[in-house]
Amino acid sequence: MSQTLVTVKNLEKFFINNQHRVEVLKNLDLELYHRDTLAVVGASGTGKSTLLHILGTLDRPSAGQVLFEGQNLFEQSAMDLARFRNEKIGFVFQFHHLLPEFTALENTMMPLLIAGDGNREARGRAEEILSQLGLKERLHHRIGELSGGEQQRVAIARALIRAPQLILADEPTGNLDRKTGSQIIDLFIRLNQEKGVTFLMVTHNQELSRRFKRNVEIIDGKAVEMPIG
Ligand SMILES: Nc1ncnc2c1ncn2[C@@H]1O[C@H](COP(=O)(O)OP(=O)(O)OP(=O)(O)O)[C@@H](O)[C@H]1O
Ligand SMILES: [Mg+2]
Repeated sequence: MSQTLVTVKNLEKFFINNQHRVEVLKNLDLELYHRDTLAVVGASGTGKSTLLHILGTLDRPSAGQVLFEGQNLFEQSAMDLARFRNEKIGFVFQFHHLLPEFTALENTMMPLLIAGDGNREARGRAEEILSQLGLKERLHHRIGELSGGEQQRVAIARALIRAPQLILADEPTGNLDRKTGSQIIDLFIRLNQEKGVTFLMVTHNQELSRRFKRNVEIIDGKAVEMPIG
């Protein structure tokens, strides 16, 4: 069996709304392996995004543990967590935070420049990944000059460019047409196979989820492994 990358143990997450306790995740156990591709499915409001935020350490669990390569994430200081997040995790969310005054190319290069890579190297890799996402003709457009789906693809390029160990994607193809959505999954699978990147993706699209190795449905706050397809 493959090596474990992330272990979620007895996870609980509730929110307090108007003095009411809303139980979202309860006794959730999940294992994610190195080089896994896992699609998280489930009805609206079942806690998919909540789970993703906790795995990405953007939110804290109410109880339970998340181990990343055996290390208990939420025992670490905020600073260590931030460093962990920057080094190991790439986020693709639907409400992406691109810098509007910069071009598609500049936005995509940014993580490499911040990591200290040279301009030429960063530029070459950004051009390559944007081209793979069908944006070869849009490199020098500012974000405001791109369509919603094009912006989404730039956000994906930016998240993928450093090939982080784990990519967390929340409905990354949600506002894209079928063909573009499928191209994005092609790229995810290629990065998984060639660079060993592990993917955890929330999607409502069964055509896409079945292309991943594993499907998990959130039911009554728990993660239930489902047959593919
Ligand atoms: N910050 C918050 N404060 C209070 N309640 C919250 C908060 N975030 C999420 N919730 C509640 O937790 C539940 C799960 O929300 P979540 O966003 O995880 O659902 P989801 O499965 O991602 O749904 P969708 O498919 O619609 O995106 C919802 O009922 C939501 O109202
Ligand atoms: Mg959601």
